[in-house]
Amino acid sequence: MDLPSIFKVLFLLDLIFLPLCVSSYPKTLRESLDRSSLPDNFLFGVASSSYQFEGSYLSDGKGLSNWDIHTHTPGKVIDGSNGDIAVDQYNLYPEDIDLMDSLGVSSYRFSISWARILPKFGDINKAGISYYNKLIDSLLLRGIQPFVTLVHYDIPQELEERYGGWLSPRCQEDFGYYADICFKNFGDRVKYWTTFNEPNIQAIKSYRTAHNMILAHATAVDIYRAKYQKEQGGNIGIVLDCIWFEQISNSTADMLAADRAEDFFLNWFLDPIIFGNYPAEMSKILGSNLPRFSRNDKEKLKNGLDFIGINHYTSEYVQDCIFSVCEPGTGASWTEGLARRSQENDGVPIGKPTDVDWLHIYPQGMEKMVTYIKKRYNNTPMIITENGCGQLNNPNLTIVCHDIERVEYMSAYWDFLLLAMEKGADVRGYFAWSLLDNFEWSYGYTQRYGLHHVDYTTLKRTPKLSATWFKEFIAGYKVEESQI
Ligand code: NOJ
Repeated sequence: MDLPSIFKVLFLLDLIFLPLCVSSYPKTLRESLDRSSLPDNFLFGVASSSYQFEGSYLSDGKGLSNWDIHTHTPGKVIDGSNGDIAVDQYNLYPEDIDLMDSLGVSSYRFSISWARILPKFGDINKAGISYYNKLIDSLLLRGIQPFVTLVHYDIPQELEERYGGWLSPRCQEDFGYYADICFKNFGDRVKYWTTFNEPNIQAIKSYRTAHNMILAHATAVDIYRAKYQKEQGGNIGIVLDCIWFEQISNSTADMLAADRAEDFFLNWFLDPIIFGNYPAEMSKILGSNLPRFSRNDKEKLKNGLDFIGINHYTSEYVQDCIFSVCEPGTGASWTEGLARRSQENDGVPIGKPTDVDWLHIYPQGMEKMVTYIKKRYNNTPMIITENGCGQLNNPNLTIVCHDIERVEYMSAYWDFLLLAMEKGADVRGYFAWSLLDNFEWSYGYTQRYGLHHVDYTTLKRTPKLSATWFKEFIAGYKVEESQI
């Protein structure tokens, strides 16, 4: 039987046996997987973040975060929901670690809630430290490496109120203070740190915000390198949203526009952190609108990371707006680089659409993105910190655990990731987004990204087909590894 037919049979079986949500699964979709391209200590992981997972938003002395305030403001989240309870990982973490153990992952990516550690500026909340200590220790007991993000969008509301958060340069020192507390308390056991998750999304269209975040990153890295790294022996990086930009036609103008789009989206952060300055094209177009780095800043910035964290989900077409007239749209204005981004060319989508409006399936984008970063940044070690696919929450649908689309998505993206690695890309890990269905920011609970289904009334977790697939995939790799 060929693979598509196997899936049809599985699908029918699943319809009969649901809602048990247990699925047998063929060993792997790929029959020719060359696992020898993966290094021995490759990190297989699942990812999460504090606001999307923890809940307990006022427990044990936690302070309010900007997202607590934002979600409690009517009209900000489409289903009117919030992360007050989220998926209650604050209480249910032992159960979640059991799920990770069952998947066989070697790492768990989570973020620390700054407001849980420092509810009032300057005063450390011991209960917050103790929660993350318990989480870290329990992970390590099961052989799972903690992979920690310091800021995954949520920061103490106090910083917003005092000086506008990232809009002010004052955030740099405060971020350094918070980072230092984390390195000091957890760094003996945490070997992977990232400063920010997707600052290029947080800072969209604000060059001032980006500038402050880049320098805040450098401040934390400096502290880590000077006080902790040698003794603790860990690594520090940053996680960027990495959309692959495909030129819409093969004209030279569109080719340059695709490059420009990457400059204004990704290289905007990575160039300063790795080379000490903004991309030349950006400076040329934005002139004095782009903040400048002082000589001191440049020194501090150089080689400001040990690895690049890549969140890759999708790709977009890019059209030049310098030599041709563009319709208004993302990227078209001069402050965004005169490179119009869209997921369609003449009404034809770049890849198979999904339930999520911005997410089209274009797996070849994974190879192209990784190869681009490899070339531009001299094969700096890379870690895929997020890759995944969202599905609409349909409460009337009983086949919620039969997420074949997610399995096909992950399998196809893996094919292209392996291709990039076979050609020499130094990729050291892959994290699926996400361990569980969770709070998807302004989409609330309307979209599900989990390898495990969460019943939001009972908080019960149930493995989906994708969990079984990922488990088999990881196990297959480990078997090969021990045979070498
Ligand atoms: C990237 C973000 O880091 C994460 O928080 C979000 O849930 C996923 N993308 C899916 O949109």
